[in-house]
Amino acid sequence: MDRIKAQFLGLAVVAAVASMVLCSCHGTQSAVATKEAKQKMDIQVESFGSTPEGRQVRLYRLTNAKGLKAAIMTYGATVISLEVPDRAGKMDDIVLGYDNLDGYLKNSPYFGAIVGRYGNRIGKGRFTLDGVEYDKLAINNGENHLHGGLKGFDKVVWDDEPVWRPNGVGVKLSYLSEDGEEGYPGNLQSTVTYVLTNDNELRIEYEATADKATPVNLTHHGYFNLTGGARDILGHVLALNADKFTPVDKGLIPTGELPAVKGTPMDFTKAAAIGARIDDDYEQLRFGGGYDHNWILNKDGKELTVAAKVYEPTTGRVMEVRTTEPGIQFYSGNFLDGTITGKENQVYQHRWGFCLETQHYPDSPNKPHFPSTILRPGQKYETTTIYRFSTK
Ligand code: GLA
Repeated sequence: MDRIKAQFLGLAVVAAVASMVLCSCHGTQSAVATKEAKQKMDIQVESFGSTPEGRQVRLYRLTNAKGLKAAIMTYGATVISLEVPDRAGKMDDIVLGYDNLDGYLKNSPYFGAIVGRYGNRIGKGRFTLDGVEYDKLAINNGENHLHGGLKGFDKVVWDDEPVWRPNGVGVKLSYLSEDGEEGYPGNLQSTVTYVLTNDNELRIEYEATADKATPVNLTHHGYFNLTGGARDILGHVLALNADKFTPVDKGLIPTGELPAVKGTPMDFTKAAAIGARIDDDYEQLRFGGGYDHNWILNKDGKELTVAAKVYEPTTGRVMEVRTTEPGIQFYSGNFLDGTITGKENQVYQHRWGFCLETQHYPDSPNKPHFPSTILRPGQKYETTTIYRFSTK
């Protein structure tokens, strides 16, 4: 602990010097603003228990200059709480999860975690890469491979270090996934940096390198409920910046088609309540038990663009999602069925949370016409996703 405190002090000094340097070139106004921001931003590190194997788990409590709070633990690189204001300034925790580590260890449908090595499904747990067949990915979802396998990145303890930036505080988490883990080729070194910025954003930066060619598709699996858990998420109003989606078969593997959403209940190009069409008699909704699909974002290349906007009318909370990724999985919490009791004894009923998982398309390793998810030695995997909170 002493070592950590000392490290913090050192970093705080570095951050202070950095902001002074920044301030001198931006004039008095920003000098005042930065000084104020620096006074209020905070990182507290606590022990959050240990895994059955005896690995210590740490919890980072982050506070930004506006009073937003995020708590992130090293098990699964998991966001366990995120407190943001409603239109009257009342703070609520707007993500689902558990009060303690035990809940996450026993039964978590990826609450708030980082999912990897490959977010979403790879059909039948196999793919061919450079002429070699890899057919031993862990099968954990019917006949398919889901979210990195039996022990994906959501179930490992990540290494951690605090992050101080002029405009935010965070934690940098690192994990080495070894060659052969869950059936994947190559050692994969990943880092995920969460920063709670003073622009009221949860910013997530993903990086990875590998020593053999391997599929990589990292994402964040937060379950949001912008009411703070007052009711299900069907009244949230969603807009997706996507004219097309990837339809799936019964096992939720993409068929490979890329149809337009126009004229279907998948059309969120104009904002609509999540619940407005969710029970329509439409094959894709039947297969997903609601929304559980990948939308193809309207963009060229890898620029950071708006993917989704969500507005919750009773509290006025707004969440905007921006990403460098080409796709987004919108999952309407269809598998939540009242059997999980989460934080503060709250029962998570059907569709009590929704996920917006920025990503490459599911099953890309078996779909050559989808954007490639293959990372090769010498290349760097780099993506950024930002969840920004405001009110109206
Ligand atoms: C993703 C999948 C869903 C489900 C959830 C977690 O969104 O697409 O089918 O696995 O994660 O339960």
